[in-house]
Amino acid sequence: MKAARIYGYGGPSAVVVEEMDQPVAGPGEVVVRVAAAAVNPVDWKLREGFLRQQLHLRFPFTLGCDLSGVVVEVGQGVTEWSTGDAIYGYPHLLRCGAFAEYALMLEGELAPAPAGFSLAEAAALPVASITAWDGLFTHGALRAGERVLVLGGAGGVGSAAIQLARAVGAEVWATTSRRNFEFVAALGATPIDYQTQTAVAVPPIDLLLDCVGIKAGMAALGGLRPGGRYVTSVYELPPAEVLRERKLKTAVFGIQPSGQRLRGINSFVEQGALRMNIEREFSLTETRAALEASQTGRTRGKLLIRP
Ligand SMILES: NC(=O)c1ccc[n+]([C@@H]2O[C@H](COP(=O)([O-])OP(=O)(O)OC[C@H]3O[C@@H](n4cnc5c(N)ncnc54)[C@H](OP(=O)(O)O)[C@@H]3O)[C@@H](O)[C@H]2O)c1
Repeated sequence: MKAARIYGYGGPSAVVVEEMDQPVAGPGEVVVRVAAAAVNPVDWKLREGFLRQQLHLRFPFTLGCDLSGVVVEVGQGVTEWSTGDAIYGYPHLLRCGAFAEYALMLEGELAPAPAGFSLAEAAALPVASITAWDGLFTHGALRAGERVLVLGGAGGVGSAAIQLARAVGAEVWATTSRRNFEFVAALGATPIDYQTQTAVAVPPIDLLLDCVGIKAGMAALGGLRPGGRYVTSVYELPPAEVLRERKLKTAVFGIQPSGQRLRGINSFVEQGALRMNIEREFSLTETRAALEASQTGRTRGKLLIRP
């Protein structure tokens, strides 16, 4: 089978699309014929070696951590899945493997693909929707009637967060560039142009979800009410004295694979409350270009690779 692999850390040219052996399912594992794999910023961050302190990859390493497809083999002890099942999910980052014709997954990392949704669209959901869910609810404790400000509203995580926050009855504002105003507004947020505002002006916000970085976070901090919650998916927090002074609660978080949590996402998708915009599709041989596109930081929704 073909797979997009790296033999060491590096820029775009580190990615090689080549033939390798198809994986074989061991105990508790499932082999999936990949229908689509979504691109996430973590893919090029892994390629560059930005996470080498936290994650010790074994080379050659097949990239890709968001997939949908069909089960073609189940290992010993797998009870939940049978060949032919349409699934989606994401593997642990130490394994990845989604940018390939076939991928090896643990049985607990998968959920049934949402009904009435194409497999391509399903591939765009796992990492973005679970990150949005964890940011808003697991760590952000967002409740109906509260106000949330999403930084990076046009990206994968941000666009999922806007929709999930709206679905539970929160009021949503989101930062974006001018070109994505209509897109963000259609998702259910009041758009705020971060390019023309050095300080983000909003009514007092209960929860700020940062999907961009500390510079954006600092520009928006004034919008957060004293005692509010500052949650970030990008591992950067404002200085401790600022947080103390304004009595802000904070959370920095990283997601873990969970098929069970994705089953929860299915109900939002199946009720029509959550969809992902697919900005562009690439073939597996175009993986380098797909990662370069993600690295520009301008993706509207998600990019997909279709093996
Ligand atoms: N902690 C975790 O477990 C976890 C999980 C998933 C993702 N992440 C991280 O979360 C971040 C977001 O991920 P993602 O998948 O949503 O990224 P993404 O899809 O690549 O985000 C791209 C979007 O960011 C917007 N953007 C860029 N600069 C901005 C700014 N200064 N203000 C507002 N919006 C801006 C762009 O909109 P415009 O073109 O309109 O500027 C674009 O739509 C990444 O750093 C990713 O690595 C962490």
